[in-house]
Amino acid sequence: MNRSFPEGFLWGTATASYQVEGAVKQDGRGPSIWDTFSHTPGRVKLGHTGDISCDQYNHYREDIALMKKLGLGAHRFSISWSRVMPAGRGTINRKGIDYYRRFVEGLLEAEIQPWVTLFHWDLPQALQDDFGGWRSRETSRYFADYCSLIASELGDLVKNYMTINEFVCFTDAGYRSPGQVFAPGEMLDIKGRNQVRHNALLAHGLAVQAIRDAASSAKVGFAENPTICIPVMETEEHISAARRAFREKNAHFLTTVLEGSYPEIYLEEQGKDAPDFTDEDMKTIGSPVDFVGINLYLACHIIADPETECGYSTIEHPHSYPRMHAPWIKVSPEIAYWAPRYIAELWGVNNIYITENGCACLDEIDAQGRISDTDRIFYIRNHLLQAQRATAEGIPMKGYFCWSLLDNFEWADGYTYRFGIVHVDFKTLKRTPKLSAEFLSRVAAANRVL
Ligand code: NOJ
Repeated sequence: MNRSFPEGFLWGTATASYQVEGAVKQDGRGPSIWDTFSHTPGRVKLGHTGDISCDQYNHYREDIALMKKLGLGAHRFSISWSRVMPAGRGTINRKGIDYYRRFVEGLLEAEIQPWVTLFHWDLPQALQDDFGGWRSRETSRYFADYCSLIASELGDLVKNYMTINEFVCFTDAGYRSPGQVFAPGEMLDIKGRNQVRHNALLAHGLAVQAIRDAASSAKVGFAENPTICIPVMETEEHISAARRAFREKNAHFLTTVLEGSYPEIYLEEQGKDAPDFTDEDMKTIGSPVDFVGINLYLACHIIADPETECGYSTIEHPHSYPRMHAPWIKVSPEIAYWAPRYIAELWGVNNIYITENGCACLDEIDAQGRISDTDRIFYIRNHLLQAQRATAEGIPMKGYFCWSLLDNFEWADGYTYRFGIVHVDFKTLKRTPKLSAEFLSRVAAANRVL
C-alpha cells in the first residue's frame, strides 16, 4: 500500500507561549490572564502555574537543537502578547521582541520554518482590567495593533501566521462554560457570551487585514478545533448528513469565518441572544485567508435521520468508547480525513494544515530512563493513516504539526497530562525524547506513514 504523502508535505511540532516559556517576570513581561487565573486557588489542578514550566525562554537554544535533531521542517509556536506589549497596548517591550527574533533566527538557522500563532489564550491582564477583555471590541482593535507590530518586526523572517488558536477555549470556556473553565473564568449570560464570541471573530478579521498591511508577503490563517463530524458509516446518505452537520455544528466559529456571515441556523437558535454586529464587521470577519488550520481533537458521530428536520442525528459516545489518558481525548482517527475533506468540499479551501494533533499518555519511564510511548505512536499513526488517505484522494492538506514538542502546562489540568513527544522533568528541566519523537522524525524523513 502506498502510504506516502505528497512531495513538499510539511512536518512540524507545536507549542504555545504560556504552556512552555515560563520566565513570567523576566525582561519586562507583563502579566496575562493565565498568570492571574493559575494563581487563583482552585482554578488549576494541584495549584500548578506556568511560572516556570519548561522555561523555554531560557532554554530555547536547547529546544531548537532538539528540533533540529528531529529534522522536521517547521515549528508552530505562539507569541506572548504581554511579553511584547506588557499592557496589551502602548508601550513596546523591546526585550520581548528581541527574544522572539532570536528564537526565529535560531529556527531558521536549523532549517525549521517558523509558524507563528498570535493569540493562544494569554491575554494581557491589563486589557482584562481596563476593558473586560473579550467583552469589549477595544480588545479586538488592540489585538490588530499588536499583530501589526509583530508582522512588521518579524515579517522579514516569518512567512506564516495564525491569528487565533481555538475560539471556543477562550470565549465559551473563559466567559460561560458548563464544563471546562479557563481564564478569565467569568460567567456571563448567553447574550454576553455571544458578544464575546463575536469580538473574538472580529479580532481575527482585523488581524488578517493588519498582518497583510504590515507584511505583504505574509500567509495568514487561523487554527481552529471544530467539532469534527464523522459519518457513522461511509455511505452517501451518512456522508452528506455529516457534511451538513459539520457546517451547522461549527456555525458560530468556523462556518462564520469561512462564509463571512452568521449562518441562519445560529441566528435562529440564539434568537434575542444573538450578538450585535454590523455588515462591516461581517465583511472583516470573512476576510479571505491563505490557509485553514485544524486542531484535531473533537469528534462526533453522525447518522442520517429522515425523522429530523435537519436530516441527521448525533450519536453520543458510548461509555466504553476508547479514550486516551486525558479522558476527553477519544480515539477517532477518522477526523484526520473528514475534517479536511468537508472543509475543502464546503468552502473550497485549498490550503489546509493540521495545526495540532496529539494526545496525553502516562509515559512511564523504564529502568534505562526510556519512555516507550507506543500508545502515543498508535494514536498518531492512526491519524496519519487517515490524513494520508485524504492527501491520496487529492484533498489539499499540506502539512501536519504534532501537539506537542514538549510536555507542558496543560491549562486547567496543570502538569497532570503530558502531551509531548519529548519528556520534560519539571524539577530538573531535563528533556528526554520519547519513542514517539523517533517515530515522527522517521515518518517525516520518509514522508510516509511507517
Ligand atoms: C489544543 C490547544 O491549542 C493546546 O493549547 C492544548 O494543550 C491542546 N489542545 C491539548 O489539550
